[in-house]
Amino acid sequence: MALRFDGRVAIVTGAGGGLGRTYAIELAKRGCKVVVNDLGGDRHGTSASTSMADKVVAEIKSAGGVAVPNYDSVEFGDKIVKTAIDNFGRIDIVINNAGILRDVSFLNMKELDWDLIFKVHMKGAYSVTKAAWPYMREQKYGRIVCTSSNAAVFGSFGQTNYSAAKHALIGFSNSLALEGEKYNIKANTLIPTAGSRLTQTVMPQELVDALKPEYVTPLVVYMVHETFDENGKLFEAGAGWYGTQQYYRSAGKVITNATAEQVRDGWKQVTDMTGARHMNKIAEATQELMAILANHGEETGNSTTTTTTGGGQ
Ligand code: NAI
Repeated sequence: MALRFDGRVAIVTGAGGGLGRTYAIELAKRGCKVVVNDLGGDRHGTSASTSMADKVVAEIKSAGGVAVPNYDSVEFGDKIVKTAIDNFGRIDIVINNAGILRDVSFLNMKELDWDLIFKVHMKGAYSVTKAAWPYMREQKYGRIVCTSSNAAVFGSFGQTNYSAAKHALIGFSNSLALEGEKYNIKANTLIPTAGSRLTQTVMPQELVDALKPEYVTPLVVYMVHETFDENGKLFEAGAGWYGTQQYYRSAGKVITNATAEQVRDGWKQVTDMTGARHMNKIAEATQELMAILANHGEETGNSTTTTTTGGGQ
């Protein structure tokens, strides 16, 4: 059955171009009413114009869809959510997508490069989600997507600001997922790879043309549908490939009352990923440590014990 969004209202931030534009257009095609937010500035987070959002709204309307523009910067999330409420009376979906780059080596990074990146990516996602949250709780329904990056997972030269903000979004989304659980609000994070105005600076033009944003769109559309049952997860899309990323904890090694030398000598086991496990909840991770702690008390005689935590499965 086709994934429809009739009666639903979505905010797509930074929807005037690149990835966001494709999400807005595809959601509208499927019956969703869309707030097309875009500040219309340049990719470094300076200047502003109404034309980017207006163009996408016109495109949606000419295809028979329903959309309104919003030109506020994402740091003013209450105004963006107000646009949804004033025009459509509700808000079901927030796609935190707006983004800029201020790439520069850490040595040469200015306070402004750091602050602007956090203002747009992290504060922006916070601000829009914060304003939408009470509506979602009240109606016991919401779908939220935050946009991270492989720069967050692996680090990226010249992007200490961007990778830090993008990683912050993973933690933000994972915690929202927990707080939203009983209200049927699902929050998940996306890692996209696509040619766009943003990636033009770091990719050859050939790749920019080949990596169509439309390859990412189907995953995002599914992620914000009412049948999507995942929560607090990280998904990835690009070039027609769709997948997920998870953290794994090694089985590790217990060394009671360890010295630094003993940690060094046990390094092979500490870092051995054979039998590593993904933990679904923070409780699982701490529970394991608590069990080890409890064992300390049972030890007699020898002050040093070494075992693995038995993580494998
Ligand atoms: P893009 O530059 O084409 O689109 C970003 C849009 O956000 C622009 O239209 C821009 O005007 C808007 N925007 C910027 N600051 C804003 C603000 N303060 N308020 C409202 N709108 C604002 O870039 P692209 O590639 O489509 O990026 C979308 C998201 O995906 C960004 O968060 C980016 O960091 C992320 N991303 C993209 C990747 C890629 O390969 N394209 C890789 C990893 C992450």
